Amino acid sequence: MKVLVTGGAGYIGSHTCVALIEAGHQPIALDNLCNSNPESLRRVAVITGCEVPFIQGDVCDEAVLEQVFAAHSDIGCVIHFAGLKAVGESVAKPLDYYRNNLLSTMSLVRVMGRHGVKKIIFSSSATVYAADNEMPLREDSKTGSCTNPYGWSKYMCEQILRDVAKADSAWSVVLLRYFNPVGAHPSGLMGEHPNGIPSNLMPFISQTAVGKREKLSIFGNDYDTPDGTGVRDYIHVVDLARGHVAAVDHLLRHSGEAVFNLGTGRGCSVLELVHAFEEANGVTVPYTIAPRRSGDLATCYADPTKSHTELGWQAQYDRVDMCRDTWNWQRKNPNGYDE
Ligand code: NAD
Ligand code: UFG
Repeated sequence: MKVLVTGGAGYIGSHTCVALIEAGHQPIALDNLCNSNPESLRRVAVITGCEVPFIQGDVCDEAVLEQVFAAHSDIGCVIHFAGLKAVGESVAKPLDYYRNNLLSTMSLVRVMGRHGVKKIIFSSSATVYAADNEMPLREDSKTGSCTNPYGWSKYMCEQILRDVAKADSAWSVVLLRYFNPVGAHPSGLMGEHPNGIPSNLMPFISQTAVGKREKLSIFGNDYDTPDGTGVRDYIHVVDLARGHVAAVDHLLRHSGEAVFNLGTGRGCSVLELVHAFEEANGVTVPYTIAPRRSGDLATCYADPTKSHTELGWQAQYDRVDMCRDTWNWQRKNPNGYDE
C-alpha cells in the first residue's frame, strides 16, 4: 500500500520508511526539511534497495498537499510525523509551535478528506499524560495539564483527530504515544541528527563519548527514584518504526479512534543509561550532577499491554542494543548527515 509519510526525512520518519518497505508498503515522504536532511532518505534507499519518492514541501500548505494527493491517487493512509518537537524552544516560541503543529494537522486532514483518504496515524507523545498519574502510564491514564506548548500542541492535535473520527465514521485514527525514542538503525547508516546542542539525553551521551561535548550534566540526583536520577522508558527507534507498521495493519481493519502507548514498559535511570552506554561500547562518559531541569518528572514509563494485545507489537531491542546502535551511528557519522 502507498503510505504518505509526512516528516519522512526526520529521525523517526526515515526509520519508519525502512520498516514500511520491509513490510511490503510503498512510502512517499513529504518534508520541508526544517529539521532534517534528505540524505536520510538516500540512506533508506541504500538499506532497502528502494527509492522513496520525496516531495519537499510544507504540510501546512494545502496547495502542496493537493498536488501530492493528485499525483498519487492511490495513497491508502497517512503517517503524520511532521512537527516541531523541541520542548524548550516551544516555551520560547509558542506561536511557532501551535501554528506548525496544529495547522499541519488540520490542513492534512482537510485535504485527506477531500481525496477520500480517511486513515491516519498521528505521532503523539507521553508528554500528553498529566504529571500526577500512577506509573506505569496506561492509555486511559489522565491527560492534560501539560507543562509546555509542545505538549499542549500534541494534546490538541489528539483532540482534533478524535473529533474528526467522531464526526465521520469513515475515518480511522490511530494516536501513538511515544515514550523516549533512542538508538539508530543497526547498519549505522541512519540515526538521530539533532541540530546544535542536543536537549535529549541519549544524543548528549553519545556526543560526549565522541568528544564533541566536554561532559554530560545529569539534571538532578535527588529524585524519589532508586538512584535519585530521572527514570524514563527508552525505546529503540527500530522498534518504534515497527510499531507504525503494526498501526497501519490496525487502521486497515478498524474505523474510529484508538490510542496506543509505544514504550517498553521498563524504566531506566539517567545513571543506568550512562553506565549501560559505557559498558556496551567500552567508552567513558564524563558527567557532573547539575540542578534539576524545570518541568522534568521523576519517573515516566509505559504500560505497553494494549499495544501488545491489540496491535500484536512488542519492543524487541534492549538497553544494550540502544546504546550499541547509537554509538555505531555516532562513530560512523560524527556530523550526522552533514558529512
Ligand atoms: P524530527 O524533527 O527528526 O522529524 C520531524 C520532521 O518533520 C523533520 O524532518 C522536519 O523537517 C519535518 N517538518 C516539521 N514541520 C513540518 C512541516 N510543517 N511540513 C513538512 N515537514 C515538516 O523529529 P522526530 O524525532 O522524528 O519526531 C517525529 C514526530 O514524533 C514529531 O511529531 C514529534 O513531535 C513526535 N515525537 C517525537 C519524540 C522524540 O523524542 N523524538 C517523542 C514523542 C513524539
Ligand atoms: N537529562 C539529563 N541531562 C541531559 C538531558 C536529559 O540528565 O543533558 C535527563 C532528564 O532530566 C530526564 C532524562 O534525562 O530525566 C530524559 O530526558 P530527555 O530530555 O531525553 O527526555 P524527556 O523525557 O524529558 O522528554 C522526551 C522528549 C519529549 C517527549 C517525552 C515523552 O524530549 O518530546 O520524551 O515522550 F514528550
